[in-house]
Amino acid sequence: MSGLSTSRRRLIQGAGVGAGAVVAVGAGFAGGRASADAADIPATDDGELVDLNVEHAFYTGSHQAGIETPQQRHTVFMTFDLTTTSKQDLQVLLARWSAGIAQLQAGLPVGSVQPTNPSGVPGDTGEAYDLGPASLTVTLGLGPGVFDDRFGLADKKPKLLADLPQLPSDRLRPELTGGDLSLQACADDPQVAYHAIRDLARLGRGTVNTRWTVMGFGRASAGKGQTTPRNLMGFKDGTRNVKEPAQIDEHVWLDGTDGEQAWMSGGSYMVARKIQMNIEIWDSSDITNQEQVFGRTKGEGAPLSGKKEFDTPDFHKVVDGKPAIPPTSHVALAAPENNDGIRILRRGYNYTDGINDLGFLDAGLLFVAYMNDPDSFVKLQTKLGGSDKLNEYIAHIGSGIFAVPPAPKKGHYLGEALFA
Ligand code: HEM
Repeated sequence: MSGLSTSRRRLIQGAGVGAGAVVAVGAGFAGGRASADAADIPATDDGELVDLNVEHAFYTGSHQAGIETPQQRHTVFMTFDLTTTSKQDLQVLLARWSAGIAQLQAGLPVGSVQPTNPSGVPGDTGEAYDLGPASLTVTLGLGPGVFDDRFGLADKKPKLLADLPQLPSDRLRPELTGGDLSLQACADDPQVAYHAIRDLARLGRGTVNTRWTVMGFGRASAGKGQTTPRNLMGFKDGTRNVKEPAQIDEHVWLDGTDGEQAWMSGGSYMVARKIQMNIEIWDSSDITNQEQVFGRTKGEGAPLSGKKEFDTPDFHKVVDGKPAIPPTSHVALAAPENNDGIRILRRGYNYTDGINDLGFLDAGLLFVAYMNDPDSFVKLQTKLGGSDKLNEYIAHIGSGIFAVPPAPKKGHYLGEALFA
């Protein structure tokens, strides 16, 4: 793979991405970063390339990056509580974060890494200085708290933004729940993602406190043109994700209709859930049980009614007097065929927090989904939380809901319309 020409590499990397969304950056960046050559680009198990020079534009004036963008390999997700009650402070924060994200997505530091004055404090923490943009995207979300009585923005509140109701099987921990604001950094290098969140949190000091965070790896959903990755239960995840642009238009983006705030046009809603897996229990269950839980085969990822991964599941097929796909399997409960056509764009990541107090592996899924109506998640999770066979092996321990504004044009900042 390392013998590929630069143009070939860029062609592969850019496949399936909307026009203008990706800028392949040439060698020799500002800021002294080393330029990548072919040897820097490792081929991975699934044959995809990781090109650390891929840059996603920030000032698109349409959708924020990090939603339809082909899913990167690593994430750092963090939510924040606003410590100010000043509307102006919030405005300054969003403007500073926007300028910072634009720099970071271009692979540039947010301040001087090497101040010339010996007593100067570096404006950028420096750990991503030589790493390139690495496909970084940082996606901002506004939680319900932004529109409470602190900032006088109630009349600008996105129509469907409200705290999620208590859902069946919720085992939410307060310290892993909520947040006035969220930032999700996704990148093909974990240090680039970590650096972005660290430096944005630093830019927000005095205005926000950190609330909860998850560092995720090994993307756990497939987007258009991507090989399907696997979650920590070993199953392919994302086979039937929302991938086609027409589906994304229909189920993900807000278009200013249905009484939605005009300033949210081109935006979306995001639900994040930290879902812990009881890994040891899962690992000791037999393959038949595992496949019945999901309604798919483990190796191929085929629906139990078919043979190949992308065979359309047949929820009516009966084998030996029983449904081939158990009605309480995860896919039977979640499929659009059985939910009045509801679809959400899943963009999750695996996570690990090491081991817990009992010495068991502490790991699971950072479930992240985008949709133009949060009730889609509520309806699906009401069903899944009530009867999903998977419940024996998982617990939803963290949760957040956010309105995701559209991306600004050059010279503007995220959420600027709130202050008009
Ligand atoms: C740890 C928790 C979860 C795991 C391990 C998991 C895993 C999977 C797997 C392996 C599939 C089949 C492959 C695919 O089509 O992507 C799937 C499908 C799906 N999951 Fe999950 N999932 C989890 C949580 C959730 C939650 C919380 C929701 C929404 C409330 C959800 C919604 C869906 C949907 C909509 C599908 C597609 C079903 C279809 O159209 O066939 N999942 N999930």
